[in-house]
Amino acid sequence: MKKIKVAVIVGSNRRESLNGKLARALARLGADKLAFSFVRIDDLPLYNQDLEGELPASVVRFKSEIEAADGLLLTTPEHNRSIPAVLKNAIDWGARPYGRNSWSGKPAAITGTSPGALGTAVAHRHLRQILSALGALVMGGEAYITFKPGLLDDGGEIPDQGVRAFLQNFIDQFAALLVRLSPGSAEALREAAA
Ligand code: FNR
Repeated sequence: MKKIKVAVIVGSNRRESLNGKLARALARLGADKLAFSFVRIDDLPLYNQDLEGELPASVVRFKSEIEAADGLLLTTPEHNRSIPAVLKNAIDWGARPYGRNSWSGKPAAITGTSPGALGTAVAHRHLRQILSALGALVMGGEAYITFKPGLLDDGGEIPDQGVRAFLQNFIDQFAALLVRLSPGSAEALREAAA
């Protein structure tokens, strides 16, 4: 049986995104239990209800990738004390057209990093509220990572043992939640570990 599938959404369209790097580091920490695939959001058009008649190909692709996943991992920066517009745009497309909400019932874990003193706390609160309103099952707890130089090394590893342990625990908790929520996934996890 295949591993549990996690779709990763990075809430930044910046090439050198810190959150993209954090997402890749998390995917490495969880690779023994979960199969991660990164979902593009930077090719989605700006949401416009006029486009719903015939959905753009990028939107069809995006929604099918979300729907095929057993769970969602979102790593996002904070923009002006909320989520970046590129992420809100993707969430809006995922929720549409009416009656075809791709987020409904999806287990989701939220984290992110920013150099700001408050990390990404306010953005996460907004994101949790939006995804919950759309019927996603957002994992409890909080995981804000204040970005400091050296958080990730050149190879994308997390040198600080404390931060690494925190993130390992975060991804392990998410894997455990997915096992509880996904029929058949306990078996998948056992086979992945074997
Ligand atoms: C920011 N940044 C920021 N940081 C923060 O902690 N709180 C905030 O409200 C904001 N607001 C904000 C607005 C805009 C338009 C930009 C461009 C930036 C700083 C932000 O956290 C920083 O640029 C991160 O590097 C963004 O993450 P990525 O794109 O590297 O993943």
